[in-house]
Amino acid sequence: MISSKSITIFSDYEALSIAAADHVYQALHDGLQEKGKFVFGCATGGTPARFYQQLLSLLQQHPVSLRSFFTVNLDEYYPMPQSNEQSYYSWMKRIFWHPLQQMNLSFDYERQVLIPDGDVQDPRKEAKQYEDKIRTWGGIDVQILGIGENGHIGFNEPGSERGSRMRLVSLTESTRRTNAKFFGGDIQAVPKQAITMGVETILEAKEILVLVSGKQKAEIMKKIFSAAEPTSDIPATYLLKHPHTHWFFDTDAAALM
Ligand code: F6R
Repeated sequence: MISSKSITIFSDYEALSIAAADHVYQALHDGLQEKGKFVFGCATGGTPARFYQQLLSLLQQHPVSLRSFFTVNLDEYYPMPQSNEQSYYSWMKRIFWHPLQQMNLSFDYERQVLIPDGDVQDPRKEAKQYEDKIRTWGGIDVQILGIGENGHIGFNEPGSERGSRMRLVSLTESTRRTNAKFFGGDIQAVPKQAITMGVETILEAKEILVLVSGKQKAEIMKKIFSAAEPTSDIPATYLLKHPHTHWFFDTDAAALM
């Protein structure tokens, strides 16, 4: 073990999602009150889907003005136009931004969200502008993360350096195979590249909440928590040195730890 960590194990996916939504709701409520602004780092994928529903329902029950609430996404496939059903842009719009906008809390996703554009000619320029924008917004207050079965965070695949920043990356065969389920089971339909926040960009978030659910994650969790030192072979191990990272597991994901 690298050092003691903030780890909570929940009975199941539902309990984990509710607790994560409570945590983020409280942080955004306090952030908006204390600093007048909250920047929320969003992940996509299977794991956080229920969390977003829970967060929406908390905001419905306990409304706050979201005029100064901003969201920043981790990544987007490349090439991938926003209009494509499978883009992370479409996913976020469907699952979170659009329902949020409908709640009359002064949230406007045309103005308050940032997600990499997977349709640009010059990904390097896009990456630079993205990092500049995060800085202009004052950095990410709370970042939600899922973990890939190969230990990736964002799309920082094995081999990604601690100092890596936002950039165009190649997806591994195993990630494309895992994500084929979101493309009708067809690995050929999964883009070969993505634009992702770098490891360093992620670690600059003031607080990180890692959500891990399901037995298919148990093996990589065991590897992460038995690593002697952070290693680029398993990018998620870099999180072990971040001072304000909370790990939320369900019992299946924690089964081998
Ligand atoms: C998604 C992302 C990925 C996922 C990871 C886990 O924006 O950056 O790192 O968090 O692949 O995905 P799920 O939750 O589908 O197991």
